[in-house]
Amino acid sequence: MDLFTDELRRQPFGMYEQMRMHCPVLRVPPPFDAWLIFDYEGVKRALTEPDLFSNAVPAPANWFIFSDPPRHTKLRALISRAFTPRVIANLEHRIRSLSRQLLDPLLERGEMDLAREYAVPLPMKVIAMMIGIPDEDWARFRAWSDSILKLSYARSGGPEAKSALPEFLAVTGEMSTYLAQMITQRRAEPKDDLLTRLIEAEVDGERLSHEEILGFFQLLVVGGQETTANLINNAILCFLENPAELARLRARPELLPSAIEEVLRYRSPLQWLMRTPTRDVELHGQVIPARKLVLLMIGSANHDAKLFAVPERFDITRDPNPHLAFGYGIHFCLGAALSRMEARIALTDLLSGLGKLGLASSEPWEPRKALHVHGPTRLPIHFETRKRDTSVLV
Ligand code: HEM
Repeated sequence: MDLFTDELRRQPFGMYEQMRMHCPVLRVPPPFDAWLIFDYEGVKRALTEPDLFSNAVPAPANWFIFSDPPRHTKLRALISRAFTPRVIANLEHRIRSLSRQLLDPLLERGEMDLAREYAVPLPMKVIAMMIGIPDEDWARFRAWSDSILKLSYARSGGPEAKSALPEFLAVTGEMSTYLAQMITQRRAEPKDDLLTRLIEAEVDGERLSHEEILGFFQLLVVGGQETTANLINNAILCFLENPAELARLRARPELLPSAIEEVLRYRSPLQWLMRTPTRDVELHGQVIPARKLVLLMIGSANHDAKLFAVPERFDITRDPNPHLAFGYGIHFCLGAALSRMEARIALTDLLSGLGKLGLASSEPWEPRKALHVHGPTRLPIHFETRKRDTSVLV
């Protein structure tokens, strides 16, 4: 079975259900060569046992997300300082003004490609602003992100698989040179940005190496953009597919935070996470051998009927909603508060600025390139322009 056809990537939920019922642990033979876990209990177990399910997976070794304690604990403590509630709250008005700058010129047009013109550039500008990338370098920054994401093709066996690694290495070289210049500038003239904080940070009396800073930089470039863009796009997709829920939200705008959680559950921006068992593990009667690649299918776990009543219903008032879209445990997403805030700002601006909306294309949407992410590459929509009133979404 090809798990990665466009059709399945648009709508994987029926397949996931079959898997949870009949085969919650699936072995996919080479070249993909991985074990997939589909049910909530199995996925959560792996997330809560980091000693057994290691994050040292076939991925860039200098990204701290792919490391285990004690190294992970130290590096996470350090980068967490850039994501405190105060730092995030201070970004709110700057994010709102970025959102308006992007959206306002589009409003008169009556149609736009939501992905390309708004949902993708907004998180890119936010993360570039946090890191301290000057405006004139934003386009380059975006191209790097796309190349890094292509790493996920490496196991697909498709035509892109061969070029993914060389392209990543070439981009890493370019980013490394760029970063070295930025570091020199920040040393000479420190600023109030993440890069300055990383240069000045010490872990156990040691400064971060160039490689470690480069790893953070790459991780944030990818982590900060693609996922949040998909959250915004997927929210609009969910609303278009469920007009009654959109009407409910417009009537009760205080439901927005809960609606965002439901989008995260229903169309999780990341569909799987990688782990490697440190020894043989038995799960649902199967033995996953040590050191094999394991994919934790969070997109499926989030539709498990054992946890979520009527999981195929998109319900903006779902409570409780213990979804795993941001992971769980020691690697829980550091950007969760930031992306929730971005989504809140984006959806407030979109729903208050756009009246009646619909898809402007009858073609099924094309999934984004990277295999582990879920969302459309383009999302053409048409809409009625309305006078904005952000206090209510009507
Ligand atoms: C909707 C948006 C987002 C989603 C769905 C998401 C999802 C996730 C998930 C599932 C993990 C856990 C990975 C694992 O256990 O292997 C994670 C980790 C992480 N995320 Fe996010 N993320 C989002 C936005 C962001 C943003 C905006 C940033 C930064 C600006 C960010 C930075 C990180 C970092 C640094 C980690 C690694 C944490 C660690 O290993 O300790 N994420 N994210």
